[in-house]
Amino acid sequence: MCGIVGYCGARRASEILLEGLRRLEYRGYDSAGLCVPEDRRLRIFKKCGRIRDLRRIVPDTLTATSGIGHTRWATHGEVTDENAHPHADCGGDLAVVHNGIIENYSVLKAKLESEGHSFRSTTDSEVIAHLISSFYDGDLERAVKDATPLLKGTYGIVCIHRAEPGRLVGARNGSPLVLGVGDGEVFLASDVTAVLAHTKQVVYLEDGEIVSVSADEYRTTDPSDRPVEKKIEHIGWELEEIEKGGFPTFMEKEIFEQPRSIERALRGRLDRTNATAHLGGLNLSGKQLLDIERVKIVATGTSYHAGLVGTYLLESISRIPCTAELSSEVRYRNPIVERNTLYFVLSQSGETADTLYALRELKRKVATVLGICNVVGSTIARESDGGVYIHSGPEIAVASTKAFTSQLSVLYLFSLLMGRMRHLSFEQGAEVLERLEETPELVAKALDQHAHIRSLARKYSGARDFLFLGRGVNYPVALEGALKLKEISYIHAEGYSAAEIKHGPIALINETTPSMFLVPNDRLRDKIISNMKEVKARQGKVIAVVADGDEEIGEIADDVITVPNTHRLMYPFLMVVPLQLFSYYCARELGRNVDQPRNLAKSVTVE
Ligand code: G6P
Repeated sequence: MCGIVGYCGARRASEILLEGLRRLEYRGYDSAGLCVPEDRRLRIFKKCGRIRDLRRIVPDTLTATSGIGHTRWATHGEVTDENAHPHADCGGDLAVVHNGIIENYSVLKAKLESEGHSFRSTTDSEVIAHLISSFYDGDLERAVKDATPLLKGTYGIVCIHRAEPGRLVGARNGSPLVLGVGDGEVFLASDVTAVLAHTKQVVYLEDGEIVSVSADEYRTTDPSDRPVEKKIEHIGWELEEIEKGGFPTFMEKEIFEQPRSIERALRGRLDRTNATAHLGGLNLSGKQLLDIERVKIVATGTSYHAGLVGTYLLESISRIPCTAELSSEVRYRNPIVERNTLYFVLSQSGETADTLYALRELKRKVATVLGICNVVGSTIARESDGGVYIHSGPEIAVASTKAFTSQLSVLYLFSLLMGRMRHLSFEQGAEVLERLEETPELVAKALDQHAHIRSLARKYSGARDFLFLGRGVNYPVALEGALKLKEISYIHAEGYSAAEIKHGPIALINETTPSMFLVPNDRLRDKIISNMKEVKARQGKVIAVVADGDEEIGEIADDVITVPNTHRLMYPFLMVVPLQLFSYYCARELGRNVDQPRNLAKSVTVE
């Protein structure tokens, strides 16, 4: 989604803004721009395309030490230079960058036009610049405070005025905004990755808050204009983690990082003495955990697929009924919150609007909602009643990979914790722990197949359509495999339960539509083999992901990828790895921009 960066300090702002925007590139965007106060006027540069295209039109001679920048992911208005941010008022005295959607922009625009304002772009965001400007009377902070109550919708904004060149004013309502506090400089950004190279001290703004920033101070007020004392928090991420570290793409780096990221998700949480898991942030007593009768998982995208795997884990390991549902559906179905039900919202970024709004609706109904997030301090993490961080480290590629396996790790830990409180014996708990402990090593072995998977990608990347088929706990993994392939290679792919193909998808099968079957060494194996034979009988090509040593499948499938033999509930960790690699190599074969696939954004902060 859109990215914001702002700077007030002593260094050349244009350089810092361009560098910050480059760090935000991963979020997915289509145009970018920046504004700096120079020679008593505002200079604005905007360009469709990449940050390097913007860099080309920004002169090296700029000396301003404050400014604002933006990467845009179009919602209202096409992708044009004019629609890129920053947007200015009529006289070019005030400029603003905005994330979110202003729902009442057409009403505001009509009113402002009737008062003589003329608009240059077709965005909803431009209305903010004109609106604040209409209240401006020598004090930008005051004007923002007067204007923002009239905005309906969501926003994270930062603005600057020609007459107050060393000041930025930011406001948030529904779109993240964070302050980076340096030595004699202050940053404003939508995402900590934009400031991490300069400072690790951050302050998270809450909805309704407004901040006025200069090089050496910042002042925050709440919606009633009362000063708010903000806590400075420390970001745990290292700069190297948001760099490629020798890999050609972030996605490849993140796929190969999984043995370590899983280890981080498990670290300090395996309680061997009691053969259970230790999850510190749940904020629920043992008694409250024992009272839980069902669990509902709410998420979207890859996180939803991890949630679906979670339903199998929770039901099998803890014998607690569990369902997973898409956030957008939960939000608008007037969900029924029953007693003794625990909700989990799963979100890598912790900012996904659909999930955040579902969380808020559930909380309005007094549900107990825990978050499973990666980004520390994210809105979902802060608004949940408690939760668990997955500690994957920054995930930069738009297509999520390492977050998936870390989410599985946490769901596994929670299932163990709940299981041990109920029916699992000490020995059974210890067994589950053992399986978890060996996961990083098994995932590393699954990764060892990369050269073979790359050769299969060469063979199959010409296909127009693909089916991914699994059953049981691996059914959601098939969904995830199909999502990965379509999002980064743009090959059309569908994920199905292998049992379901005879109810429709088999009509698609011919020699040009390959199927990827997930065939673990478990009780469903023989059933899946029958499904595979149904496909082979119709000239369909089959790639099978099988457990090590399963020779028989090689005689049926056209190609085979092996993963280590493991317990039936552990296969999702291993099966997803070849699917991630296969999609990745197909996308590379086809020359796609793997880290920033077209039309997609990393963190979708609009509904
Ligand atoms: C976007 C991303 C996906 C991600 C989904 C959910 O659509 O492109 O990769 O899975 O959002 O994101 P979340 O941050 O809530 O896990």
